[in-house]
Formats: sequence, structure tokens, C-alpha cells
Amino acid sequence: MGKTAIVTGASSGIGKAFVKALLESGDCPDTIWITARRMDRLEKMAELSSKIVPIKADIGSSEGIDILKNKLKEQTPDVSLLINCAGMGKRGNIADRDPSEISDVISLNCTALSVLSAEVIPYMSEGAAIINVASTAAFLPQPGFTVYAASKSYVVSFSRALACELKSKGISVTAVCPGPVNTEFNSLATDGKSAEFKGFRKLLAADADKLAKASLKAASHKRRMFVYGFSQKALHVVSKLMPVGLMLKIVYG
Ligand SMILES: NC(=O)c1ccc[n+]([C@@H]2O[C@H](COP(=O)([O-])OP(=O)(O)OC[C@H]3O[C@@H](n4cnc5c(N)ncnc54)[C@H](OP(=O)(O)O)[C@@H]3O)[C@@H](O)[C@H]2O)c1
Repeated sequence: MGKTAIVTGASSGIGKAFVKALLESGDCPDTIWITARRMDRLEKMAELSSKIVPIKADIGSSEGIDILKNKLKEQTPDVSLLINCAGMGKRGNIADRDPSEISDVISLNCTALSVLSAEVIPYMSEGAAIINVASTAAFLPQPGFTVYAASKSYVVSFSRALACELKSKGISVTAVCPGPVNTEFNSLATDGKSAEFKGFRKLLAADADKLAKASLKAASHKRRMFVYGFSQKALHVVSKLMPVGLMLKIVYG
């Protein structure tokens, strides 16, 4: 049956770019399970290669996780790569958002990523890799994007600890931290008000295809943290040197 990669959030943006990058890489697994809710998009992607297996699942729910769990049990694949890319954010102050949206963000960005990792690890062997897509939002609390930034801090912390847990098994874990990337993300985060980033974020916005390729390379080098782009690397260094309170005061007043 050969090696299998699993990519969540594969119907658009960075997840889709990961699938394309895998297909173009010299080291493409024999099978790529791609998953998201929009099956029409996944089926369109499956036209790119017979290696692609589209799986419709809302992984923000336990029923969606069960779909993947059952597929793993049925097929017992040899998983060489898990890319936890599905994620979402909702901009606006906490008090102005529907509480259900808060739990939706946490369920997808934190719970699904963690539970899916736990479900997939038993199907991995030495040399396998996990890529968890975090964000540079993890480095600084973000008023107005509070839950999202906190959820990405969780992803970084989770990935770092998991990398230690899996070291003896020879399985690597890479937390990928991009800054703004041009995808559907911002439109969804602003409820369709702004499809593009504004201000300095617009200037810094990265290309999803380049990010995906660079992230695969970082994972192949077993990097535990991969911060993408010079400006984001600088932000990372500053966030390590400066007290959080002072940074918040400078950025948000
Ligand atoms: N774009 C950025 O500026 C940026 C920056 C840093 C980090 N990131 C992170 O990068 C990752 C990918 O985001 P993106 O920019 O590619 O955004 P995107 O284009 O909106 O893609 C999000 C993906 O997640 C899937 N998804 C959303 N809710 C889901 C659910 N309940 N169950 C299953 N799949 C679900 C979506 O597919 P369906 O809607 O078809 O289900 C889609 O494939 C996220 O973790 C995000 O936090 C993005």
C-alpha cells in the first residue's frame, strides 16, 4: 500500500498548497488523504492525481474526527506525514462575538489538531513527521483576535511538547508559524468584510505555495519551529526579548 500523507484543511489556501507541494516534491507519498468540509473542492483537487483520496469531514465535531478515525481503522495506512492545517479565526472583541464562535475556533484549532494527532500517531513509524500549522499570532496576545492568537499559542506549546514525546519513536513534529498569508482566511475572519489584509499586514502577506514548499523542507530537516519570512522571524526574536506587557503597550497602547 505504501506511504500515506494526511492533510487537513486541504480544500483551500495553505492546505491546498501543501497538497500541490507534496505532488511536486521528489518524495511524494503513494497516497494523500485530503480532508475538509467542501467535498466539491476536494473532488476537484483529486483530479490532479490518482494518489489523492478526498474525505469529507467536519473535524470541528467529534463525528468528523470519527470519520477519519474509522477510515484509519479500516485501511491501517502507514502514515509518513500528517499536516494539521485546518484552522479559522474570528476578528472582533470577545464580548461582540457569539460564544459559539469562540468554541468553534478552539474546537478546530486546538481540539481537532490534538485529537487527530493522537489518532494518527499509532499508524506512524520511525521517520514519520507531523506538521502543525500555527501562526506568528502565537507570539503575542492580540486584542480583537484574542481567541485565535491564544489558540495558536496552544498549537506551538502542544507541538513542542509532542516533539519531545515522540523523539524516542523517531517521529518529528514541526510547528509552522507564518505571518499573514493570502488565502480565504481573512475574509472568513472578518465575516466577509475584508478579503485582503490591511495596512502593514498587506505588505507582509506571504504566498501560500512558497510557504508550503518551505515548510515541507523545514519538516524534512526535523525543525521543531519554522517561522516563515524575515519580518516574522524578527517578530519572533523581539517577542523573546521583550516583556509581553511592554509589547502589548507599544502595539495596542
Ligand atoms: N492565512 C493566514 O494569514 C494565516 C496565517 C497564519 C496561520 N494561518 C493558519 O493556516 C491554516 C490554514 O489557513 P488558510 O489561510 O489556508 O485559510 P483557509 O483558506 O480559510 O483554509 C482553511 C481550511 O480549513 C478548513 N476547515 C475550516 N473549518 C473546518 C472544519 N470545521 N472541519 C474541517 N475543515 C475545516 C477549510 O475547508 P472547508 O471550509 O472546506 O471545511 C479550509 O480548507 C489555519 O490553521 C490558519 O490558522 C493562516
